[in-house]
Amino acid sequence: MRILGIETSCDETAASIVEDGSKIISNIVASQVDIHARYGGVVPEIASRQHIITIIPVMDEAMSKAQISWKDIDGIAVTYGPGLAGSLLVGVNVAKAMALAQGLPITGVNHLEAHIYANWLETEKSPFFPCLCLIVSGGHSDLVLMKGHGEFEKLGQTRDDAAGEAFDKAARILGLGYPGGPAIEQAAQSGIARFALPRAWLKGSYDFSFSGLKTALWHLAQREEILPSDSRVGDAAASFQSAVVDVLVSKTIKAAKELGVGQILLSGGVAANKLLTERFLNSSPTPILVPPPYLCTDNAAMVAVCGYYHFQTGQISGYDLDVVPSLGLG
Ligand code: KG4
Ligand code: ZN
Repeated sequence: MRILGIETSCDETAASIVEDGSKIISNIVASQVDIHARYGGVVPEIASRQHIITIIPVMDEAMSKAQISWKDIDGIAVTYGPGLAGSLLVGVNVAKAMALAQGLPITGVNHLEAHIYANWLETEKSPFFPCLCLIVSGGHSDLVLMKGHGEFEKLGQTRDDAAGEAFDKAARILGLGYPGGPAIEQAAQSGIARFALPRAWLKGSYDFSFSGLKTALWHLAQREEILPSDSRVGDAAASFQSAVVDVLVSKTIKAAKELGVGQILLSGGVAANKLLTERFLNSSPTPILVPPPYLCTDNAAMVAVCGYYHFQTGQISGYDLDVVPSLGLG
């Protein structure tokens, strides 16, 4: 079964064709990062206009790279939330138009659920339930128990900034540019985590909090007068990264033990962070699954694999499929 996935929830216009819920036939991502970088973050109006320009060429490229025609596609999966309303509308409307024109079934996919399903791309490993999912992206830091396909129970979430958002804000404080995650990771490579920064453990809860850490970094930068050109930027970046990783790794491993799950699934853009994945792989007694970095950040292959399981379990949307910008999971 071949599924065309379409993703336009934020600032990546993406289309991908995935076979039998695992094999990527083509995977095209047009990033708008350079366009938004000068504003220090995503500008929603610009994002949706850029999707309008890019979506058809991206979809065409996904088809031509796959060397197939529309008659070889069995269904269309599209992200309908959460995300920016104007951006989501572009993908959902293109998906509906193509489904109608080609007589194909369509399924609306939750972007957070899609991030989790990236774990089953390009691997022989099959889903193993129940599992514990840590979704860490620009908008979410969710700890979710997955009991089966489409069966989620949210255990915890961030009380303020998402992990990715914290990386982006920390990079801005240190003058490292946007997006902040890769910038902090790179700066940290030449630094030592020698500055003491706080960790919000929120004992007795599966929630996270990163805004206190961000404020502490700001005070550190002011007090120590750390400038972007300063060699101590690397130390500050390493100290910040270490604090985020400590909390995410410790709380998730503890939750997995308490719940007795057999697998931990990492996902979302922050899961592309090398220190985070290494710490999980080296310290978790529970087996860890993590997609390769290019499948952690936004892409449409994860939407297609999630759509594949939707079609398998009869979750088909109608042509009245609408966007849900504040959609959650569980
Ligand atoms: O999943 P994603 O691509 O988009 C959303 O759904 O939000 O995640 C984007 C977030 C951004 O905040 C970005 O700074 C962060 O993921 N990110 C990283 C890394 N790569 C991307 N954070 C830490 N380390 C990275 N290597
Ligand atoms: Zn995402």
